[in-house]
Amino acid sequence: MKSIHEKIHKWYKTHGRTDLPWRTVTDPYPIYLSEVMLQQTQVKTVLERYYFPFLEAFPTLKSLGEAPLDAVLKHWEGLGYYNRAKNLHKAAQVLLQKGQAQGIAPTLPSDIDTLFKLPGIGKNTAHAIAAFAFRQPVPVMEANVKRILCRLHRLRTPDEKRLWKLAYGMVDKENPFDYNQAMMDIGATLCIPKDPKCDLCPLESICKGKNTPRTYPLKKKR
Ligand code: ADE
Repeated sequence: MKSIHEKIHKWYKTHGRTDLPWRTVTDPYPIYLSEVMLQQTQVKTVLERYYFPFLEAFPTLKSLGEAPLDAVLKHWEGLGYYNRAKNLHKAAQVLLQKGQAQGIAPTLPSDIDTLFKLPGIGKNTAHAIAAFAFRQPVPVMEANVKRILCRLHRLRTPDEKRLWKLAYGMVDKENPFDYNQAMMDIGATLCIPKDPKCDLCPLESICKGKNTPRTYPLKKKR
C-alpha cells in the first residue's frame, strides 16, 4: 500500500494550488507577509488585491521597518483586522533594531519559539513560517487542517493540545513544505464543512470519520 505521504504528495502535484506566489519563493519575508494576510483573509482577496501591491511598496523587511506606520496602514486598507498591520510593522521594527545592533540587514528568526515572541505571530503562524520559509519538519494547523484532523480521528470536541499532538505525529518530515501546503488545500477544496468530497481525498483510506464527516467537529453554538 502506498504510504499516506506519497498519496498526499501525488494529489498535491496534480490538484494543489502549487503556483500561489508565496509558495514559489524562498525569501522568508514574503512568506511571512502572506501568512499574516491569510490569517483572516481569503486566498482570493489576498492574491488579487493586497499581496503584490504591499510587496511593491515594502519589498524587504528593512523597508517595512523603516516605513511610517501610516503608509503601512494605507496599504492594508480594506483588509480589516488592522492590528495585523500594526504588529507586522512593529515586528519589522524590532528585527530592524536587532539587525542594526549586529550591523546586518534584518532577518526573520527561524525557530518557532523566537518567532512566537514577535508581535502578531501566534502558534500557527510561527509553525507556518518555520515550515514554509525554513523547511522545518513541523505541522501547520489552521482551521481547515483542524477540520481534517477532527474527521480523521472522529473528534467532536477537540482540544488544541490534542490536535497539535496529532498534527506533529502526522507531518511528513522529509517534505514538510509540500505536505503542509497540501493539507491546507485538501481542507480548502475537499474536506470542506458541507458535503466533503471523500471519494477524491488522498486521506480516505485512513479517515475514521469518512462515513459521517459532517459529525466532526461539532458546530460551535453562536
Ligand atoms: N492559509 C494560510 N496559509 C496559507 C498558505 N500558505 N496557502 C494557502 N492558504 C493559506
